Amino acid sequence: MKHTLRFMILILCSAVIVMSISAQEKAANKYIGVKACAMCHKTEKQGKQLDIWQKSKHAETYKTLTTARADSIARAKGLKKPAAESPECLQCHVITAEVKLFEKNFDVKDGVQCELCHGAGSAYKTMAIMKDKAKSIAAGMKEYKDEAAIEAHCKTCHNEKSPSYKEFKFKEMWAKIKHPVPKKG
Ligand code: HEC
Ligand code: HEC
Ligand code: HEC
Ligand code: HEC
Repeated sequence: MKHTLRFMILILCSAVIVMSISAQEKAANKYIGVKACAMCHKTEKQGKQLDIWQKSKHAETYKTLTTARADSIARAKGLKKPAAESPECLQCHVITAEVKLFEKNFDVKDGVQCELCHGAGSAYKTMAIMKDKAKSIAAGMKEYKDEAAIEAHCKTCHNEKSPSYKEFKFKEMWAKIKHPVPKKG
């Protein structure tokens, strides 16, 4: 009886420890930056995600905020600071997270970069995890169940709160930036 009790307490304690470790891991996912993702996502065989992104406007969204046009939009909205320093503008033009979540080589000036759509990558970036979609998702990679989910994500920025918004035609816009892994065979 005594033994069983001790055993139960031991099991309980280890469960609590394991649970708190995994909770910490979840909270600690960090942004590793586009260069780190690109290590494995740039060749023809992989689908040239780096190249496609670099040629897209999403690589320029920070630079856009440093232009005279951006500053005049910010002034017209009554903002006191230049556009590139205003949270009201940065919120859709870069990854906004606490600085402590940015790893050393992360560059906020890379604008709308991989991890803004795929989730902070520090826990899913290893080959062993990446090769397994379920494990990647469990380690923090964002899951899109269908096209409607993708469209909903786009519209968190492509909406009428954008000072230059006209209309967001999802199919056309997605065709401009999509970056699939080529089918094997
Ligand atoms: C060590 C190499 C490596 C790194 C670093 C890496 N990946 Fe991957 N990634 C892979 C491999 C391999 C696959 C599986 C590709 C396939 O389907 O053949 C993959 C798959 C993916 C997928 C598709 C998952 C699916 O099955 O739907 C996404 C999205 C992705 N990676 C995003 C990223 C992002 C974002 C980063 C940076 C945070 C990153 N990867 C860093 C190797 C890597
Ligand atoms: C709700 C998200 C969002 C916010 C907030 C936002 N932007 Fe943008 N911005 C976008 C999107 C999306 C585009 C691409 C064009 C479009 O469809 O609106 C864009 C494009 C731009 C462009 C290039 C197009 C053009 O008209 O020259 C400029 C400049 C710009 N934004 C400046 C700003 C400034 C300055 C602020 C802050 C006052 C701001 N943005 C706030 C999402 C946003
Ligand atoms: C974090 C905010 C954000 C998200 C999420 C986002 N975008 Fe954008 N997107 C922008 C901004 C800002 C620009 C304007 C870039 C510029 O002009 O500097 C832009 C520009 C573009 C452009 C170029 C504009 C054009 O007319 O050619 C395309 C295409 C685009 N986005 C497609 C998408 C798609 C598709 C999704 C969803 C898969 C998406 N975006 C998600 C912020 C975002
Ligand atoms: C504007 C949002 C956005 C950006 C920026 C973005 N992606 Fe994606 N990516 C998506 C969406 C949406 C999908 C399709 C759904 C999915 O597979 O998760 C996708 C799919 C992928 C896939 C899987 C393709 C397949 O065939 O299964 C890989 C790999 C990938 N992205 C890597 C990257 C890398 C690396 C970067 C940065 C260089 C990047 N993505 C930037 C939104 C984005």
